Amino acid sequence: MSAHLAAHPDGEAAFTFDRSAYQEDLSSLPIGVFDSGVGGLTVLEAILTLDVFDNDNLQPGPDGRPDFAEERFVYLGDQANMPYGNYANVGKVDYLRELILKDMVFLLGKRYHQDGAVRRDKPPVKAIVIACNTATAYGLEDIKSLVQTLGVPVIVVGVVEAGARGLLSTETDPDGAIGVMATVGTCASEVYPRTIQSTLGRAGRGIATITQFGSPDLAAIIEGDPSIPTSASEQVARDVRALVEAHRKSAQSVQSAGSDGERVPPLSTIMLGCTHFPLVREEIETAFSELRRAPDFAPYIAEKRIYIDPAEWTARQLFRELASAGLRASAGGARATDRHLFFLSAAAPSIAAAHRNADGGLEHEYKYGRETGRLDLEDTIVVPMTRESLPGTSRHLIQNELPAVWERLP
Ligand code: DGL
Repeated sequence: MSAHLAAHPDGEAAFTFDRSAYQEDLSSLPIGVFDSGVGGLTVLEAILTLDVFDNDNLQPGPDGRPDFAEERFVYLGDQANMPYGNYANVGKVDYLRELILKDMVFLLGKRYHQDGAVRRDKPPVKAIVIACNTATAYGLEDIKSLVQTLGVPVIVVGVVEAGARGLLSTETDPDGAIGVMATVGTCASEVYPRTIQSTLGRAGRGIATITQFGSPDLAAIIEGDPSIPTSASEQVARDVRALVEAHRKSAQSVQSAGSDGERVPPLSTIMLGCTHFPLVREEIETAFSELRRAPDFAPYIAEKRIYIDPAEWTARQLFRELASAGLRASAGGARATDRHLFFLSAAAPSIAAAHRNADGGLEHEYKYGRETGRLDLEDTIVVPMTRESLPGTSRHLIQNELPAVWERLP
């Protein structure tokens, strides 16, 4: 990617950006937010509605005005290439990492497609929020090091570290166990156990008991994938049971190892480690309380569960980082271009019918069979996202659950 960017410094070509855009004051630029699909809009909703700081003196405490009232946003959902959570288990981590860098470059750049033509009028961004747990797990370090190598002074915030800090700042049972619900890829990366343990360790807390379960399907079901004929509540019930079973298994192996007096505590804190899961939080809570009625499972589930949604904590971290870098947009700085922009990726029209599925997206084998290094090939393109262009399930989800986003979506 670095060589490709160096060869195209004017940002005209695919997967490049105009380096000269970063030589001026960045504070009036929008904030970029990306996810593998529409799930990251839960993070954008949290950012748009946050009011935990005083906008004038930047001190903690709400002031009745949204903390990001003066900011504008560019959102990208890489829907054509999702689920990101399944690249790791087919041995395609490198390809996923390249996709994540392409998302970053899209946000820095000016290029997108509309009505069959390439347009180059998208503003660059001053900050990148990785509103995707899987992308944070596999791409945060790559993004940070690429912006550093390129000398582009943008802020980079990922949901995982923010979620771990959120856990630290929330009143949870310090003796209870933590359950992480995420994608298969996020769990395989171990990013949550690693980040939670180091965050707690830095705060002088002991080692936590953590059990994770990665769901291969829940995010896609929530997003309305027509190829999976399971309802979200059915899948939630299966996933919660799988998490508790995994926790019971680790408890039993501790017991059979005969460690004197050692007892694995019940799950009392649940990390919603996937952007989509806060949207089914009620179903998750229902599944835990139903499962707790079964004597086999009751000892492994605490009477009361506390949920951590990294979205709100990401919004707080973004505010702090913008403030300390002096990059907050100034009040009244509105321009003609002062509006939020929403984009989605889609399969490129040039992609052969054999590589497409019934709804026009990339067919599974093609999607997960691609190799890195083809920066000359746009098999997916980024197009504007509108209320109308969204699949019905996503549209209803946003309309019902994410009102601040819905209001701003063209
Ligand atoms: N947005 C992803 C995450 O938070 C879930 C969907 C996907 O696998 O692409 O991990």
